[in-house]
Amino acid sequence: MSKPRVLVTGGAGYIGSMVTLLLTMSGYEVLVYDNLSTGNRWATLDSQLVVGDLLDVELLRATVKSFKPTAIFHFAASIEVGESIERPLKYYQNNTVNLIHMLSVADEEGIDRFVFSSTAAVYGAPETGVVSEDCQPAPINPYGSSKLMSERILADYAVSNPLFRYVALRYFNVAGADPEGRLGQAYRNPTHLITRALKTAKGEFEKLEIFGTDYPTPDGTCIRDYIHISDLANAHILALQYLDAGGKTLVSNCGYGRGYSVKEVIEEAKRVTGVDFPVLEKGRREGDPPELVASNERITRELKWTPAYDSLENIISSAWQWELTRRK
Ligand code: UFG
Repeated sequence: MSKPRVLVTGGAGYIGSMVTLLLTMSGYEVLVYDNLSTGNRWATLDSQLVVGDLLDVELLRATVKSFKPTAIFHFAASIEVGESIERPLKYYQNNTVNLIHMLSVADEEGIDRFVFSSTAAVYGAPETGVVSEDCQPAPINPYGSSKLMSERILADYAVSNPLFRYVALRYFNVAGADPEGRLGQAYRNPTHLITRALKTAKGEFEKLEIFGTDYPTPDGTCIRDYIHISDLANAHILALQYLDAGGKTLVSNCGYGRGYSVKEVIEEAKRVTGVDFPVLEKGRREGDPPELVASNERITRELKWTPAYDSLENIISSAWQWELTRRK
């Protein structure tokens, strides 16, 4: 019997490559479609790769026609909050317009299962800090807006096509590396807190800056729900199994339900690495909400998701091993 086929856009990136690996290990045949603008060829390991852009609808259509996937995982996107404020058009293009291209081809080819990378940034700066999917989305930066628009496009399209079902996962702060050391973060210009902290510990940066110490949180720094890449990747496999079993469209948070402040993360990074790296307190970074923590009741109930790596130590130590050993 032939394996079920999945097209993965952005499968050469940090999250897409980890999901590709897990899909392959779970018995799916995967084809990665990626323009390698931020992703890396090596990260696709042994999967088939088409180097292409989502703007190139002809190539996308030809790829889908010949590969004939039964499901699409759509990761390809721009992901930095700060950059989205400086370059909003890039975010609406890459995140929103390109989703329309992907969906149009899926529509033409009759592909009716879709897994979408959404983000906690759709919530904006919620008053409570801990957010459930029933909270009214109110993004405070173009990145969050571009993803919320994409969610609305998916919802409207699903109404027009009763066969089409999707899972949109709203990721909180994804970090860490594959515990077996095969994959991890490899951005050319890393901006995320844990990666910046570890690269500072390694001596690649002179110091780590803290963006804002006057937030209404216990130690004045922002609180986030950090989730290990392997648990996040596993949620995607469960999402596809859920759709394959006939599950209905689902929009769900993906996080642990526990937050850590920037200062707590730095302390843990110093403990894990054993390096007391220099830290400088600076002003706020535009577009940052004070606190974002997931309610994960829905994902636990609907996808039967049970995290296996949910501690800050697991996240930071796996990322540290990756930083120390990777050759790329
Ligand atoms: N931070 C610093 N110094 C740094 C880097 C980050 O103080 O050098 C702070 C930020 O100001 C923020 C926190 O650390 O308060 C986390 O920042 P990240 O850049 O690591 O992550 P974000 O919370 O901005 O965004 C990430 C993803 C988004 C996703 C969001 C969901 O990049 O895609 O988490 O919570 F939407």
